[in-house]
Amino acid sequence: MAYKLGLLGLGTVGTGTAQIILDSLGRHPLLQEIEIHRVGVRNLDKPRPVTFSADQLTTDLESIVTDPDIDIVVELLGGLEPARSLILTAISHGKHIVTANKAVISRYGNEIFDAANAKGVYVMLEAAVGGGIPVIQPLKESLGVNRIQSVMGIINGTTNYILTRMQTEGADFADVLADAQRLGYAEADPTADVDGLDAADKIAILASLAFAGRIKLEDVHCEGIRQISAADIAYAEKLGFRIKLLAIAKRQSSTENHAVDRLSIRVHPTLVPKTHPLASINGVYNAILIEGEPLGQVMFYGPGAGSGPTASAVVSDILTIAAILKTETEPIPHPLLSCTHQHYCAIAPMEELVTRFYTRFLTNDTPGVIGNLGTSFGNHGVSLESIVQIGMRDNQAEIVVVTHNVSEGNFLNALAEIRQLDAVISIPSVLRVL
Ligand code: HSE
Repeated sequence: MAYKLGLLGLGTVGTGTAQIILDSLGRHPLLQEIEIHRVGVRNLDKPRPVTFSADQLTTDLESIVTDPDIDIVVELLGGLEPARSLILTAISHGKHIVTANKAVISRYGNEIFDAANAKGVYVMLEAAVGGGIPVIQPLKESLGVNRIQSVMGIINGTTNYILTRMQTEGADFADVLADAQRLGYAEADPTADVDGLDAADKIAILASLAFAGRIKLEDVHCEGIRQISAADIAYAEKLGFRIKLLAIAKRQSSTENHAVDRLSIRVHPTLVPKTHPLASINGVYNAILIEGEPLGQVMFYGPGAGSGPTASAVVSDILTIAAILKTETEPIPHPLLSCTHQHYCAIAPMEELVTRFYTRFLTNDTPGVIGNLGTSFGNHGVSLESIVQIGMRDNQAEIVVVTHNVSEGNFLNALAEIRQLDAVISIPSVLRVL
């Protein structure tokens, strides 16, 4: 039996989602049971990278969310309306929901989840925060037994890209923003990103999962990065900090009543010590650092936006729902938790590994040694990236070589030849270089 999807929106993420589903080879076998039944778009005639039949494509989005054949509605329209109304109508028709829409969830999550609970359907939102980074499911499941102390992260790629360039180029905000817009890294209207609103939506969602309570978006204190200057970044650097737009949700003991914990929830530019794990997250990447008891700290890092990464999160949610639906109708172990394969993977032998090698030789300090080493490496197709003789150790010349990429088999053959050279006393270290 196939699980039928109604896809709302065929933009960047919708296209990425369709591409994963239509190209299932090498992915989880359950994907083969997922079918894109209908696709809602604004314009039927627009040329697209993925083609659908005239029966599948429609501009009538309402007809998708009420279609009795559809099991899961995948909302990838973005924006507040009609996304909110379509999600609510789909729920009232018993559809499960997968969405990437952080704005709708952070503002209307209360009515959406109330409706979903009443109807017994799921609303999944892995793609709403951190693009392709799995963080929603870990918060719900893998980290669920922890008492979470804090969730903090860099969850807006646009501002992190701008701050990273300001830092590396010593440039001012306005210049980098204009260039980022020209290159397509920042929207023509950058307000949601640079004023911290997008990060506020996302931290509200993360905090609500981490601390098991609803968050009113207006309670999230929000400052953006417009006021950050090249001078601030340079002074911060001198003092040992990087400036990052952090979204933070933290359990905070009440000063009046120590028995009551309250949440501090905020988005603002922050001086982060250079040694802190979030200080080295650069460019459009996102990272979320979660601290819990008894786990301690765990950090999730990866691409926070983009067609493929965000679609990966969308389709993982689709798969989760399909697996639940399957176990409801078939007496089988849960397809995502049970072992789905019996065959053994083909493993490449080590001699076929292609890598760089670091090697340290101890040799007699005689003329021609380095030349002989180079000749032996060359005899086996090993090209050298660097070769240095820094000094002597116990009256022996110490020569260090780093190769270019080479097959391990060729490298070992070269080493066997080198071991036979009269001048070579020993080869104390051979290490692979990443
Ligand atoms: N505009 C967001 C960002 C990506 O810059 O991170 C989508 O959530």
